[in-house]
Amino acid sequence: MKKRIVVLTGAGMSVESGLSTFRDADGLWENYPVQQVASHDGWEADPTLVTNFYNMLRRQLVTKKPNDGHKFVAELEKDFHVDVVTQNVDNLHEEAGSTNVLHLHGELMKVCSSYNVEDTRYWRTLTADDLEIAPGTKAGDGSLLRPYIVFFGEAVPNIEPAITLTQQADIFVIIGTSLNVYPAAGLIYYVKPNVPIYLIDPKPVTTTGHNVTHIQKGASDGMRELIKILHGEE
Ligand code: APR
Repeated sequence: MKKRIVVLTGAGMSVESGLSTFRDADGLWENYPVQQVASHDGWEADPTLVTNFYNMLRRQLVTKKPNDGHKFVAELEKDFHVDVVTQNVDNLHEEAGSTNVLHLHGELMKVCSSYNVEDTRYWRTLTADDLEIAPGTKAGDGSLLRPYIVFFGEAVPNIEPAITLTQQADIFVIIGTSLNVYPAAGLIYYVKPNVPIYLIDPKPVTTTGHNVTHIQKGASDGMRELIKILHGEE
């Protein structure tokens, strides 16, 4: 049976595709007030501003392509059972060919009912030719159509399946996340003892995990090195 790898990714995964992180200098939260554009209260206070913000992010996303890091993660599926647990709302893991991708913080290319985010009847997947939501557009249940994004102040429904996957991992890989945001950052506590953890990030990242090997490189070079390690070449 193939070994199980869980790959937890954050904004750093998509930097080499041209997307910015949140907390680095010039990160997204430096240029846009997070409380306004990515919190539940912000949505309630000004849905037009929030709708336009995510329209802008979608226009940006459709010009981006997966980088080598995404592709190497997808290629792991040749030798391992791979589950990607991502905090990213982009779809670059899927575009690179990863088949099991669990999004913790929602998906930029989806919109949903603001009355019940998880009501799949009102989900709509947008495409490059149809990515703008006019402010005021309603979902089928009469509520405002909103981005399928987990805003600050909201529950993270996919954390439960993510915990289960993490508990089953034989190898745990973390790529491009500052591990600042819970509950995602707490997944590391569910890694079984003796399971190796590889952390790929060009900067130091504080973790309390055991067995952590820090590959201090960007996502693509870091994944190149990890693949050699996993194949016993280093
Ligand atoms: N390759 C890999 N990692 C990189 C690269 C790169 N080329 N460039 C930067 N990084 C690292 C940074 O060093 C940092 O540790 O990516 C990390 C990005 O951290 P954050 O900006 O905090 O992003 P993330 O951890 O994904 O944020 C978590 O916070 O704002 C919310 O919902 C949002 O999902 C997001 C969550």
